[in-house]
This record gives sequence, structure tokens and C-alpha cells, in this order.
Amino acid sequence: MSTATMITLNTLRQRKMDGKKFTCLTCYDASFAAILDQNGVDVLLVGDSLGMVVQGHDSTVPVSMDDMVYHTRMVARGRKNALVMADMPFLSYRDPATAIANAGRLMAEGGAHMVKLEGGWVMLETVEKLAALGIPVCAHLGLLPQSVHKLGGYRVQGREPDAAEAILSDALAMERAGADMVLLECVPTALAQRITQSLHIPTIGIGAGPHCDAQVLVLYDMLGITPGKRPKFSQDFLHGRTGIAEAVRAYVEAVISGQFPDSEHSFS
Ligand code: KIV
Repeated sequence: MSTATMITLNTLRQRKMDGKKFTCLTCYDASFAAILDQNGVDVLLVGDSLGMVVQGHDSTVPVSMDDMVYHTRMVARGRKNALVMADMPFLSYRDPATAIANAGRLMAEGGAHMVKLEGGWVMLETVEKLAALGIPVCAHLGLLPQSVHKLGGYRVQGREPDAAEAILSDALAMERAGADMVLLECVPTALAQRITQSLHIPTIGIGAGPHCDAQVLVLYDMLGITPGKRPKFSQDFLHGRTGIAEAVRAYVEAVISGQFPDSEHSFS
């Protein structure tokens, strides 16, 4: 049983300043929230990936605000110390007023400590307004799953020099606008490292190499229970272990020690 204390944004900022990594996993219910919390996961992300791994859709697009509030509430009930970050689903932040109302629901009804939204400079005004109202925001950059139909598939982003510069300037713009964290999905290792070094706020990576301040995986991928092919950037931590708690501890240790992700789970 963990003797950890409450994780806040200050804790995570301090970890970055101390050069110590922190950990995040997606989580969708109270039982998993308790297991992850007790085994050292710092941030529980109620990801809209629940649309795919829990609801069986082929993208995150059909997930509703009511779905997110429902799952966030369950996760918030199960955790004790971990920080709860909740995804804002597709079109729930299409303008600042809608974003404020929906972020408010995730925090007040759901019990989230922070919200995550996808997009860079186009979200500038929205992030500024949320931050001014005391709503902590994580800006999701790189591969944006809610834009999968526009992007034409799930592909590594930022490989071309112009695209890399655009993601870096999005990250800097989000920090200036008041975001408290940046999540980088499926970008080359060198770009994620450059962004991480350029920001004062922490970065969380998924398919973004080992140099981010933290790592996140989709829980069902890291337990090997996602149907179909596991993404290259993930690892089945349950394989060869006796239970979920042991798998979660192995993930936490691998991230904190810098063993995960390695080049096999990253992009160049
Ligand atoms: O919804 C989710 O699970 C995410 C991950 C890709 C980090 O945003």
C-alpha cells in the first residue's frame, strides 16, 4: 500500500524542476483508479480513448460530454492521491463559452482537477479564458485523435521541419496562454526533447520518446487487453507478471528510471 501524498500541479512542476519523471495512465472507472493510485501513478487521465477501448467505437469522435462526466466521476471516487485529468470530448470546446461551461462540468460534476483539449494556437483564446477562471489545462499536441478524419489516419506528426516548428510554436503559445501542461502524441523523439527543454511547464509523452517529463499509455494497451494490434509506442506490462498491481508498478518503475520508452517504442 502506498504512503504517497496528494499530487497537485505544484508537485508535478517541482518534479520537472528536479529532473524527476512522473507517470500517467488512462483510467475510466473507480476500481482501476484505486489500483493505479495505490501503485504510484501520479496522474489518472480520463481519456476520450474510452470511446474506443470501453465503448467499442473506431474513433474518439462519438464520445459525449455526459460520457466524460460519468467516467470522470467514477475515477474521482476511486482515487485518493492521484491528480485527475479529464478529456474534453469532440466539439465540447469549439468556442470559449462552450469550453468554459463544459470544463466547469468536468470539474464541478465530475471531480476533475484539470482538463485536456486538443489543438495549439487555434485554442489560444479558449486556454487563456479557462486559465483566467482557474481551470488547469493540458494542451494535447502532435497527433490529435479527434481530428483523425481530417488527418486521414493515425500518423506520426512533426517529421517535416515546417511541421516540427509549428508544433514547437503551438507548445510555446499554449504555455504563454496559461496552459499548465502539454501532452505530445506521436512526434519524433528529437522534437519532443526540444519542446520539453523549451517549456517551463511539464510535458507528457505518448509515442514521443524518453525525454518528456512524464509518460502516459492507454491502460488497456499496457495491460494487453486492447483488441487488435497494440500501437508501436505501447508495451504489455502484464505479460510475464502475476497481476495488474504488479504490471502497474513495473510501468511506474520503468518510466521513472527512464527504461521506458526506449527506441523500440519511439519514432525518429
Ligand atoms: O484519450 C486518451 O487516451 C489520450 C491518450 C492518447 C493520451 O488522450
